Amino acid sequence: MCGIVGFTGRENALPILIKGLHALEYRGYDSAGIAAITKEGELRVIKTRGRIEALEKKVLAAGDIDCTCGIGHTRWATHGEPSDANSHPHLGGDGKIAVVHNGIIENYLELREHLTARGYVFHSETDTETVAHLIADLHKNSTDGDIVRTVLRAIHRVRGSYALGVVSLDRPDEIIAARRDNPLVIGLGEGENMIASDITAIIRRTRKYIILDDNEVAVVRPDEVIVYNNFGERIEKEVRTVTWDLSAAEKGGYEHFMIKEIMEQPRAISDTIRPRLKDGEIVFEENGLTDDRMANAKHVHIIGCGSALHAGIVGQRVIESLCRVRCTARVASEFRYENPIIEPDDLCIVISQSGETADTLAAMRQAKAAGAFTVAIVNVVSSTIAREADGVLYTWAGPEISVATTKAYSAQLSALYLIAGRLAFARGLMDAEQHKAFCASLAALPDLVQKTLECKEQMQFLATRYNNRASVFFLGRGLDYAAAMEASLKLKEISYIHSEAYAAGELKHGTISLIEDGTLVVALATQHELYEKTVSNIREVTSRGAEVILIAGADFTGDESACRYVVRLPECPAILSASLSIVPLQLLAYYIAVERSCDVDKPRNLAKSVTVE
Ligand code: G6P
Repeated sequence: MCGIVGFTGRENALPILIKGLHALEYRGYDSAGIAAITKEGELRVIKTRGRIEALEKKVLAAGDIDCTCGIGHTRWATHGEPSDANSHPHLGGDGKIAVVHNGIIENYLELREHLTARGYVFHSETDTETVAHLIADLHKNSTDGDIVRTVLRAIHRVRGSYALGVVSLDRPDEIIAARRDNPLVIGLGEGENMIASDITAIIRRTRKYIILDDNEVAVVRPDEVIVYNNFGERIEKEVRTVTWDLSAAEKGGYEHFMIKEIMEQPRAISDTIRPRLKDGEIVFEENGLTDDRMANAKHVHIIGCGSALHAGIVGQRVIESLCRVRCTARVASEFRYENPIIEPDDLCIVISQSGETADTLAAMRQAKAAGAFTVAIVNVVSSTIAREADGVLYTWAGPEISVATTKAYSAQLSALYLIAGRLAFARGLMDAEQHKAFCASLAALPDLVQKTLECKEQMQFLATRYNNRASVFFLGRGLDYAAAMEASLKLKEISYIHSEAYAAGELKHGTISLIEDGTLVVALATQHELYEKTVSNIREVTSRGAEVILIAGADFTGDESACRYVVRLPECPAILSASLSIVPLQLLAYYIAVERSCDVDKPRNLAKSVTVE
């Protein structure tokens, strides 16, 4: 969701900005633009609705632009449709200041009225343009002419969330950056520096970076970066080093990031689990999740959005089953308004791949304020959620580029199993022997997922058969229902086929009316005690014309005769089955999307990191 990049140095800024924008594409966007300060002292803005390729064409058509400082943006529309005019950057006042923005300015209407009354003319419907004019207005009327102070004054008048990049003709080699509740990093190079929404946009030029925190403002010049706090006082920031390789953010011979990331799951699971298994015990050294804390928790809350929520729903079932403690998984955007009952000893597990999802962050802050101990399962190191949580359990999935998550989801499940295993041990529901056995099952999981991936060709074949269905239903009970939710989301988000996940026993209470000849139903059955019940539900749909693909546990003993195809999973403890059953269904979604010529890695309207509420 909206990406920001900025460069100031000695080389031509344009190709660097364009490469940076390409690296941010995965966040999701519908338009793109750049602002460059030319050597002739002009502020050139080029922007367009559509893909970055369209922007590149416009840049090329604009002829030689000699510039070493500029900002770029990919926009995911919130205020105003995707259009050239609404694309960023936006110019302020008489065109000497350009602004790119990620987030939402909540009081934009009030600011717009105020600025219109002062004679400013708006050229877009965006909330961002108010910031551009506000900065221009404050700058024009400032007595000290200090652009940093002006930006600080401007953000003090703004309500909402933002990451901002500002360039001004007055300071042709300088970028001002500011943030509140939206991510922004500053890449530190040799004789050049960058700003960006995330590391993927800077890693081609430098591995050293600073994370800008809320309410801070930075001045970025080719040879220095100065950071100020909310009061305009200069502060020192920790310089960090990117730990992963550029190759991790490249396709490495695969056609799409999604299939590469599906295939990487055994490694992601292994890297998440293995460092936390020591001598037959699950050990959390890093996150303050002590046995005392776990033993005393009366309620475990799990919050997340999208696939992270689905991982949480699996986690809820695993935790309640293994630990016999009340556990609820809830949509982060609803959690906040449900007036949840949170007691000081409660444990709140916050799940987020990006660590920047606005709703998840807000829900976490609420749980924390109510006294719960918050532990974040996060993939992006040093992201906001990771830094604000009381403790963090990183999923070591590596950078995930495809918008539709696969390996990060699988790593989240692994992290939840780790918590569940230790929680059960701390609460006396597993003795040392059982705990050791559970650890051994976790250690074996990467190999089982690897084995599950062998169904790749079978899923590719099924995709050729079923890519033309108007609607697909995923059915399961218990853990299989939780896995079905994620399977259904995968299919609809990348193939645009309508699909629904249903608790197998619930379908007959209404939705079965949608089953007709040829409807595809994917049934999941990995829980031994539920096999017969699920078979009955399969019969209910096949007798109404549905064609069923069954994803079956290794020991499935039910009657398969009603199913058109059966995909058998490797043998695995039933409690961990969600890690296996999702794999064929990720592959099915992927190959169906490929068959339908969909933009697999960048599905329409979706954003990887949703930084607005
Ligand atoms: C977006 C993405 C989903 C993701 C969700 C939560 O909607 O498209 O794939 O599951 O956000 O993201 P998070 O980064 O918090 O896991």
